[in-house]
Amino acid sequence: MAIPKMSDFDLKGKRILIREDFNVPLNKNGEITSDLRIRAAIPTIKQALKAGGKVMLMSHLGRPNEGVFDETFSLAPVAHALSKQLKMDVPLIHNWINGFDMGDAQVVLLENVRFHHGETDNNVELAKKMAHLCDIFVMDAFATSHRMESSTYGIIERAKIACAGPLLLSEIAALDKVLEKPAHPVVAIVGGSKVSTKLALLNSLVKKVDALIIGGGIANTFLAAEGYTVGKSLYEPDLIDEAERLAIEVKERGAEIPLPVDVVVAERLSEEAESYVRLVSQIDDNEKIFDMGPDTIKNFLPLIKKAKTILWNGPIGAFEIDAFAEGTEKIANAIAESKAFKVAGGGDTLAAIEKYRIANKIDYISTGGGAFLSLLEGKKLPVIQALEARIAKNEKVA
Ligand code: 3PG
Repeated sequence: MAIPKMSDFDLKGKRILIREDFNVPLNKNGEITSDLRIRAAIPTIKQALKAGGKVMLMSHLGRPNEGVFDETFSLAPVAHALSKQLKMDVPLIHNWINGFDMGDAQVVLLENVRFHHGETDNNVELAKKMAHLCDIFVMDAFATSHRMESSTYGIIERAKIACAGPLLLSEIAALDKVLEKPAHPVVAIVGGSKVSTKLALLNSLVKKVDALIIGGGIANTFLAAEGYTVGKSLYEPDLIDEAERLAIEVKERGAEIPLPVDVVVAERLSEEAESYVRLVSQIDDNEKIFDMGPDTIKNFLPLIKKAKTILWNGPIGAFEIDAFAEGTEKIANAIAESKAFKVAGGGDTLAAIEKYRIANKIDYISTGGGAFLSLLEGKKLPVIQALEARIAKNEKVA
């Protein structure tokens, strides 16, 4: 179904409210540690400015107690970063919900939407007030499009005109390319600690991929399902049946989930811990798996090399510690060198991409965490459905 787009409308002189996802990671000093989401938003903002709009940016940051201002969750660092990147002053507006004045060719950032009561419950009155601020509402926060909140969902139904921004559209196009008619072989690399949090994703991927490379605690549960003892490694005994079922399902399709043959173990996750490479049949009772071993990686690399589509979510080892980083580093470099169409997403994945400096070799890096997973799991994002439903209503207004 079609989605109304920002480019369908004349923005000149109009009040344009863009929902962004500026939920960026901050360190203890309140400094932004990854500005990917801010950089990704800039082209849309520039486009709206160039088209003559008065631009208001709206976002949440973290999960503050609603109805209370809390400095820790202020978007002040984002306003600062935006001013730098746009090379213009982007003031942070604190009291905005009942309206405020704006000049032409101006960009302002509205303080954290989650400081307002009712935002996360999709409160109708709040959504109406937000809708009242603008002539055109642009939903560009792909990373928040799995949330039904006043500023993401409720406002779409109530704004005079509501449409999708270019970032949201490009995220959906890239993920469609991977999910709908991907070039084969399709290889997915899924890391992470638990099968339980990625079960829906694994269920969806086993129906689509030619090879599913698993790492982290997920691989440990699959090893346990094959009858290996994994020592003190993180694994989920109650998901062994699911792991067996997934392994059978993928085999029946002529695809594979290649299991590790060797792993890197230690007694604890620490820079100082002694680490060893072990065959998967030789893990001691007091050892924990923290990375894939060299022979395992050797088995994985040809799969990545011959892939035509690669989807990457989650590092395969504890790559923040050097002794356990080799697996993730080698896989990251192999993905970077592959000629496949490559899409990656998820917080830890982005950290690995930054650490190994391969961002410019990935075709599409999603800004989404939960939203990225929801789409890959085959779910319909509520915000997209709301936008699809707006087509006819927009036409009457425009
Ligand atoms: C995210 O970081 O995944 C989005 O910004 C959504 O944040 P939330 O999980 O707090 O709704």
